[in-house]
Amino acid sequence: MKYLLLTLSLLTLARPLSAELPLLPAGEVWRDDQGQMINAHGGGVLLHEGTYYWYGEIKEGRTYLPQVNKKWGGTRVIAGGVSCYSSKDLLTWRNEGIALPANARNPDHDLACENVIERPKVIYNARTKKFVMWLHQDSPNYQAARTGVAVSDTPAGPFRYLGAFRPHAGKLPVGVNKTDLNADNAPAFTRDFAGGQMARDMTLFVDDDGTAYLFSSSEDNKTMHVSRLTDDYLRPSGEFARIFIDRSMEAPAVFKRNGKYYFIASGCTGWDPNAARSAVADHPFGPWTELGNPCRGEGADTTFGGQSTFVLRVPGTPDRYIAMFDRWNKWDLADSRYVWLPIVFDENQNPTVTLAQP
Ligand code: GAL
Repeated sequence: MKYLLLTLSLLTLARPLSAELPLLPAGEVWRDDQGQMINAHGGGVLLHEGTYYWYGEIKEGRTYLPQVNKKWGGTRVIAGGVSCYSSKDLLTWRNEGIALPANARNPDHDLACENVIERPKVIYNARTKKFVMWLHQDSPNYQAARTGVAVSDTPAGPFRYLGAFRPHAGKLPVGVNKTDLNADNAPAFTRDFAGGQMARDMTLFVDDDGTAYLFSSSEDNKTMHVSRLTDDYLRPSGEFARIFIDRSMEAPAVFKRNGKYYFIASGCTGWDPNAARSAVADHPFGPWTELGNPCRGEGADTTFGGQSTFVLRVPGTPDRYIAMFDRWNKWDLADSRYVWLPIVFDENQNPTVTLAQP
């Protein structure tokens, strides 16, 4: 009997505990508690006082291919703004309404419906007690490449839009000297030194000490920038680093486990899926060591048809991590789906993701 119990408890321990999360079925239509399709793409989740808040892009209506994006297949829908859903268990979601609306009246506004409002992420500032949203704001042809900020006193908003900009105008990345700007083959950040750096696909990460970082695809999406934010999380502090130089990564997601920082991202193929990337570091500014594609098994080379957007840490003992992916439907963006999968850490403590549901 004693041995049976021991064997049973060893078997329990050997099971990847992180795989035991209850998650909605990958790629199926996910509905809120009113039966409506959940509309929160390219999003992220904030856990605040026992409630999960899921923010995402509202993708509604007809998908079209603007003339300016014909060459690379950049299909669009009219921007609907940022949605917010809440849940206690990650399975039942309540629609909290529009956290940040698009501006249907003023075509010159950053958040005009014709423009791009993508990858919203929200963090909570314990000092100011404000909820701070950062997002990718862009022109219809994605050439403005700006990051936008909004703020709210409550998690579901409505958020007050503060504006969008290219960060770090006139600022040098860490480890770069002014003389490097004149070097032959100077990289794209020198071109954008005066006006500010491009910022497209992005995520936010808050460290244990409350320091927040913005990760954004920059330099024509070739190189990722990590920016430390000001203490109120409303602006870049001016300190930033270039990471994954010339590795062309998008859709960044960052998390921390046992003192190490982990990074999951995609390559740059628009809405079409590609093989995911992963990396580990001892500090958000790097140096980062690439760990290759974290996906395993069938469909791994296309990230199971998805693209990363966020990694959610679920507290508990042990804590668990959910990798959130979007399965974009390029010709019907409103029918894009979600794939949330548990992260399992292998024998080297590297993150892996498999499509099999728990
Ligand atoms: C992807 C990006 C998405 C969206 C899309 C447009 O590369 O990750 O967020 O911008 O391109 O085609």
